[in-house]
Amino acid sequence: MTPNAQASLKRPRAVTLRFLAEPTDVNFGGKVHGGAVMKWIDQAGYACAVGWSGYYCVTVYVGGIRFHKPIFIGQIVEVNAKVVHTGTSSMHIAIDVFATDPRTAGRKTTTSCLIVFVAVDGGGDTVPVPAWLPESEEDKRLEQYAKHMARVRKEQDEGMSAAASDEG
Ligand SMILES: CC(C)(COP(=O)(O)OP(=O)(O)OC[C@H]1O[C@@H](n2cnc3c(N)ncnc32)[C@H](O)[C@@H]1OP(=O)(O)O)[C@@H](O)C(=O)NCCC(=O)NCCS
Repeated sequence: MTPNAQASLKRPRAVTLRFLAEPTDVNFGGKVHGGAVMKWIDQAGYACAVGWSGYYCVTVYVGGIRFHKPIFIGQIVEVNAKVVHTGTSSMHIAIDVFATDPRTAGRKTTTSCLIVFVAVDGGGDTVPVPAWLPESEEDKRLEQYAKHMARVRKEQDEGMSAAASDEG
């Protein structure tokens, strides 16, 4: 496919993974292990980032993770990943995890976070990604949140560098 033809493809902005929480995902308390949820978040974010960019992607940041409710074995897990901001090579992806009890159809939000992926080429160098532009008010709000978090991270990094140089 030519680069122009590739550029004209409509890239999916969002991905949803759906599966059952299995007994192998259990923690010592009988619920789904936090590490299993983080793995699903990374997988959904990865699929979303690759779908948007058309390149292999690596995780550079996971933050703001909040475990709102536990997930129980046998519940249907849904992991929604959607692009909420793009930089030059980075894609900021909002993740929401839901669990549904198949006996009652009761659905709850269990986890949410923001994860950042960077698109890289075969040599591991960063590559530019298509820009994502918010249209709805909700998407504009989500992009503002992603930008705000990026500023907070930058300030934290600068603060840590300053503290390290004071010690040295
Ligand atoms: C991804 C990687 C190649 C980028 O290299 P780099 O030298 O940091 O490149 P840059 O400084 O140009 O940053 C590239 C992008 O990542 C973003 N980024 C880097 N660190 C970040 C962080 N902690 N949080 C959010 N974004 C970050 C930059 O803002 C930049 O975004 P932009 O292109 O949209 O402006 C390198 O950081 C890497 O290999 N990291 C390890 C990835 C990994 O092993 N992940 C776990 C397994 S998948």
